[in-house]
Amino acid sequence: MEKKDMQEQVVINGVEQFRGFAKEGRCASYIPMLAERNPDHLAVSVIGPDGYEVRAGDSEELFTLQSVSKVLTFILACMDKGLPYVLERVDVEPTGDTFNSIIRLESHQPGKPFNPMINAGAITVSSMLTGHSPSEKLTKLLHFLQQITGRALTINEAVFQSEWQTANRNRALAYYLMDSGFLDCPVEEALEVYLKQCAIEVTVTDLAKIGLVIAHDGYHPLLKTQLFSKEVAKMAKALMVTCGMYNASGKFAAFIGLPAKSGVSGAILAAVPSHASLHSPFPTGCGIGIYGPAIDEIGNSVAGVQLLKYLATKWQMTIF
Ligand code: DON
Repeated sequence: MEKKDMQEQVVINGVEQFRGFAKEGRCASYIPMLAERNPDHLAVSVIGPDGYEVRAGDSEELFTLQSVSKVLTFILACMDKGLPYVLERVDVEPTGDTFNSIIRLESHQPGKPFNPMINAGAITVSSMLTGHSPSEKLTKLLHFLQQITGRALTINEAVFQSEWQTANRNRALAYYLMDSGFLDCPVEEALEVYLKQCAIEVTVTDLAKIGLVIAHDGYHPLLKTQLFSKEVAKMAKALMVTCGMYNASGKFAAFIGLPAKSGVSGAILAAVPSHASLHSPFPTGCGIGIYGPAIDEIGNSVAGVQLLKYLATKWQMTIF
């Protein structure tokens, strides 16, 4: 069997082996539009720096970024405002709490959000993006994503509307942050940016390209261009390892060991640096995109996490 065929077979087998795990989860229902997705879908794409891609499953499906967007706005805010400005307003400590928890904003003065991967931190980061309106901020974000993925991405208006109508918890977080002085723009504007960035639609290939650039410290190997600094990429990877899978980040680091970020849509983005993949078919690093909309109570794709674990084990990929 050709090498490429062998690797393709690995991802095809993985999807078939773990698709059934979807039964142990459910599509997110607190965002009504997400509840309508097919819970049995599972897809994966892996892309190396030469553009070599293997993919399997429902890889043509479009799905929304949800919390995966938090990594991207964090990077963009650092590019716009500089790392010190961002870190003055949001910390880099994991919480062990659920992603939409409000508890630490009051129990730890001065109410600085713990990290950019939880909703409180992400809303703060979205408020910092440069632009005079939500639409200017989002245009910048979409342009940044177009550079990485090579195609124009769009916001799924129905998903946005469905969350905008039901975003009571996020609204509460945003008002609390405004009260303690952490928002750079009015509450409704910060929320609009945050919820629209969550509703940007991608495929697993788009996610894999994003992972590839983060794995290569901000350098886009296909464009041969440095898109953001190594310092910011390092910070993004550290945040993905410590906070990217929410209150399952510890177990994810222990049993999988890759910088990754999940979203309640069932998306998982993983960045595999070269030192973590020396013995894999992608010895100079790769990006991985996974989609499996049935999630567990923490918010991570059930089948997706199993599939990523399988690939990381099979290809001996780990940063540790
Ligand atoms: O703000 C929310 O609740 C969603 N738009 C995103 C949350 C999310 O993806 C958390 N993921 N595991």
